[in-house]
Amino acid sequence: MEPNASASVGLEAELDSEAPQRGKLSGHTRRNFIAGIAAAGVSTAATAVANRGNSLFGENALAAGGGRNGFASFEAIAPSPDDRFNVPKGYRADILISWNDTFRDGNGQALRYGFNNDFLAYFPIDGSKEGLIFVNHEYPDPFFLHGYKGSGAKTEAQVQEEKDSVGNAILHVKRRPNGVYRIVQGSDYNRRVYGDRPGLTFTGPLAGTTGVGDSARGSLGNCSGGITPWGTALSCEENYEGYGQDTSAGGYGWDQYGGQPGDEEYDPVTHAKYGWVCEHDPFDPDSTGRKHTALGRFRHENTAFRHEPGKKFVLYMGDDKTNEGVYKFVSSRRFKRGDRANNRRILTEGQLYIARWEPEGRRRFATKGDVEPITDTEGTGTWVEVTDEQLRDTAALIRAAVGTEEYNTHFATNRPEDVEVGPDGSVYIALTNNSTVNDSHGSVRRLREAGNDPEATSFRWSDFAAGGPQDQGGAGFSSPDNLVFDSENNVWVVTDISSSALNSDNEYGYHANNAIFMVPTRGENRGVAFRFANGPVEAECTGPYFSPDERSLFVNIQHPGELTAGEEDSVFGIERTYTSWWPEGNRTAEENPSLPHPSTVVITKDPRGEGERSIPPARRRA
Ligand code: FEO
Ligand code: CA
Ligand code: CA
Ligand code: CA
Repeated sequence: MEPNASASVGLEAELDSEAPQRGKLSGHTRRNFIAGIAAAGVSTAATAVANRGNSLFGENALAAGGGRNGFASFEAIAPSPDDRFNVPKGYRADILISWNDTFRDGNGQALRYGFNNDFLAYFPIDGSKEGLIFVNHEYPDPFFLHGYKGSGAKTEAQVQEEKDSVGNAILHVKRRPNGVYRIVQGSDYNRRVYGDRPGLTFTGPLAGTTGVGDSARGSLGNCSGGITPWGTALSCEENYEGYGQDTSAGGYGWDQYGGQPGDEEYDPVTHAKYGWVCEHDPFDPDSTGRKHTALGRFRHENTAFRHEPGKKFVLYMGDDKTNEGVYKFVSSRRFKRGDRANNRRILTEGQLYIARWEPEGRRRFATKGDVEPITDTEGTGTWVEVTDEQLRDTAALIRAAVGTEEYNTHFATNRPEDVEVGPDGSVYIALTNNSTVNDSHGSVRRLREAGNDPEATSFRWSDFAAGGPQDQGGAGFSSPDNLVFDSENNVWVVTDISSSALNSDNEYGYHANNAIFMVPTRGENRGVAFRFANGPVEAECTGPYFSPDERSLFVNIQHPGELTAGEEDSVFGIERTYTSWWPEGNRTAEENPSLPHPSTVVITKDPRGEGERSIPPARRRA
């Protein structure tokens, strides 16, 4: 059956009929596509590979793209469990920079690229030819950094290495004639923010209050983020709790073993220095980052702005935690192009709201692995005001105020990752999964404000695309995480199936490695996922972001080989014992045992096939 069959009679159909139908090719409908996949019995990686020859993937992927954005016209690829990154024919994939690589700032000082790159945004200086890349380095892997296996004491030097591995990086890049980017060494723009420096200042209602204070040392837990129309980057502090927790409780133990004055500030209960949305000006290397308390303190995944002329500036945000909610900040101010003094204050004053969903917020399923929920797939909702007193520990304080039953029914969702505003003003929310309600595969939900007014206090919603195998009625992806739109109204979805569940005999078996999908939001293939890239072993692909001309897609490869530390027989320094050897080696192919490196990759249109489609390159056979 089709995905969203029930939703397509309501909000989805209404929104679809409003929109221009672009990128259609005759003869290939979504129904035919689903029927074809089902008939071929594609349910596992192995059968998908076996069925590639019948070009089901090819014909239909090409039917989805086209038009003026050539990027989305591709022959979809098959799932893969391999320890490599690969893209379709007609594209090349190149590493821009990897963890621990050095790049030089304007003083000639060597900076190291951090660990676990997640959010990425490109800020143009000269269109797509030259710009700044802003990257988040989310969290450290103590084993890959210094051999720590999850118990015992750390040295101060080890903790410092972890502090140095997180935060943000700003890279000045230029494009070569072949379309591939390189870093401009010695640029004044090149810089790093770390877990303990430089200081960021607090703004908004809680600035200066107990445990918050006026400033925080550095930034951590930076998952995804967003941009603003006034040219700044917003970096979201997500899993902030663990840094100030003891290693015996599974934390990083920074206040336990760091030994630096101020390390007690990492304690997430006595202090509230982390867990905020941080604003950075990539164009001003001397600027001080700011943490905005008006946006609340929760596990911030990312931000997506909406700016409509004559309307207040609005920011949407998700709380990336099981059974938590979706937020909207309505600034007291409007965005005024070129008015820097006004725009700097937009995120410091306004009203935060949390979404209240009717009939309920969570998609619940009878059995794990199911694709059809037992709950409604569309409904209505209201935006409920968050008080200033609730900002410090936002979700917990709202839950306490409304009561657990009310919260779980009407505020909780299936763990919101990225939110993104579509071209028509609809808000797309990646609800990744939720084992407490048997939601294995997650969904992408669409929210439409009343009257399409960003300041509205009520909305309608529908589940736009369901995770799960196509032969069971799912869109094809599972556990959606980051989203990005291209100019042809396609939403690009990256997946985050947890490493321990990947490539096992379970409901995720069909998917193989985490991947990147292109999903049309209009026309006959609306809601169908076309596989564009496969990540390496135990990795997720994060932060997808297009160059302005959409000739290039930047993507971060995060945590390849992340299960290594937990393997009994893994030994630091003996690469053969690591679960991924990417990008220098390929563990699945037993080629070149290497230390795995999170890396930033650039995918480029390559019609003449001059570059490599695979990282590392597929072994050439004579
Ligand atoms: Fe860091 Fe929300 O994933
Ligand atoms: Ca994420
Ligand atoms: Ca995004
Ligand atoms: Ca995730």
